[in-house]
Amino acid sequence: MRLRRLLAVSTAGVAAALAISTAAVAVPSGTTTSSAVAPDSLRALAAKIGLRIGTAVIPFDLNTANYAAVAAGQFSVVTPGNEMKWQVVEPTQGTFDWSGADRLVAFAQAHGQLVRGHTLLWHNQLPTWLTTGVANGTISDAQLTDLLHQHITTEVTRYKGKIWQWDVANEFFTDSNPSGINPNDFWVSHLGAGIIPQAFRWAHEADPHALLCYNDYNIAGEDGSNAKSDAVFAWLQQMLAQGVPINCVGDQGHLDTQFGFSGTRMTQDLQRYASLGLKVAITEADVRTFVNNATDQVPTDNLSQFAQPFEFGQMLKACLAVRQCISFTVWGFGDADSWVPGFFKGEGYATIYDVNLNPKTAYTELQQDLQLAAHGAPHRTGIGADS
Ligand code: G3I
Repeated sequence: MRLRRLLAVSTAGVAAALAISTAAVAVPSGTTTSSAVAPDSLRALAAKIGLRIGTAVIPFDLNTANYAAVAAGQFSVVTPGNEMKWQVVEPTQGTFDWSGADRLVAFAQAHGQLVRGHTLLWHNQLPTWLTTGVANGTISDAQLTDLLHQHITTEVTRYKGKIWQWDVANEFFTDSNPSGINPNDFWVSHLGAGIIPQAFRWAHEADPHALLCYNDYNIAGEDGSNAKSDAVFAWLQQMLAQGVPINCVGDQGHLDTQFGFSGTRMTQDLQRYASLGLKVAITEADVRTFVNNATDQVPTDNLSQFAQPFEFGQMLKACLAVRQCISFTVWGFGDADSWVPGFFKGEGYATIYDVNLNPKTAYTELQQDLQLAAHGAPHRTGIGADS
């Protein structure tokens, strides 16, 4: 079904992606690109201020030419949506499948893109052999520690020098007020909270030059109370005081138009992390809303058609306002590929391209924000009565 929708692409979206110009995007060392990108693409505009614009990618979908063209033409950093998660890379103990991850890394290198590695330590998408072994006692806590060490070392070493930012640890804090590290988390309940800084140390040993990030949702004020942001901030201060090699904070940025959201607070929270000497990034931006059905994803409330791009713009502006915000990544660029309809009943329309890969208002919003950031507004002239 998804493939069929992808094939039914409009010429507008593709033409925008394929428009060729001679303006080359700044290419990171170690990567090459033969293709030039359109000067009004998101990646080209962002490059003017040193910002990377990213997307999550489903490597299999790169078989579809139109999908690949947008992925290459609009974005300067890519994240595998699932293909670097433990469940995917080691489905059977000792048997590895790097095919999806390798493919995306090669695609990125061919198109002058950086890669965000995602994710090394998370309670979700773990291999069944691991969770079953822990549950039935055949894997002890000491063995679990060793397996994790081996997993992180193997994966980070495989991609050493090819990953710009690693989401080392993902989603450890509770949504409660006050928030804190979740004692019931799979890793914390078995190995204690100290396993989180340990994961950063192991990752650093395997690739000392990669930026190592703590990644979570609702940690830039999206929860209204700011409780989660406060807890993460306090934990980061503690970790940095202990010399843990944490370099950045990823705020996922999964929004829903039915809830309130403050771009001002997001800016303040990103700035607060940056004040610790950390880089910050928006790592999984999307804005969902209620839709007619999961196939067409037409918003059922007219106002949400304005709220959706507005909230995307607010997130990008928050990132633009903070000098240490180095990348702004959307969690997939097309509604047909979004995780949202499968996870939130009745919701969708969460990305910046529609189900036929036409750019939506949210795309234009991001493009305009980046145009202003890159070039500013045209200077006013001839404003005097006699001019
Ligand atoms: O690969 C199987 C396939 O073989 C099977 O036929 C199919 C049937 O449902 O499932 C496929 O696996 C799915 C997988 O995505 C790959 O498509 C899983 O069911 C599905 O649960 C999984 O969802 C992923 C989700 O993480 C899991 O929590 C989403 O694609 C992925 O976008 C999402 O990403 C997370 C970030 O990693 C962390 N932050 C939140 C974000 C959104 O949930």
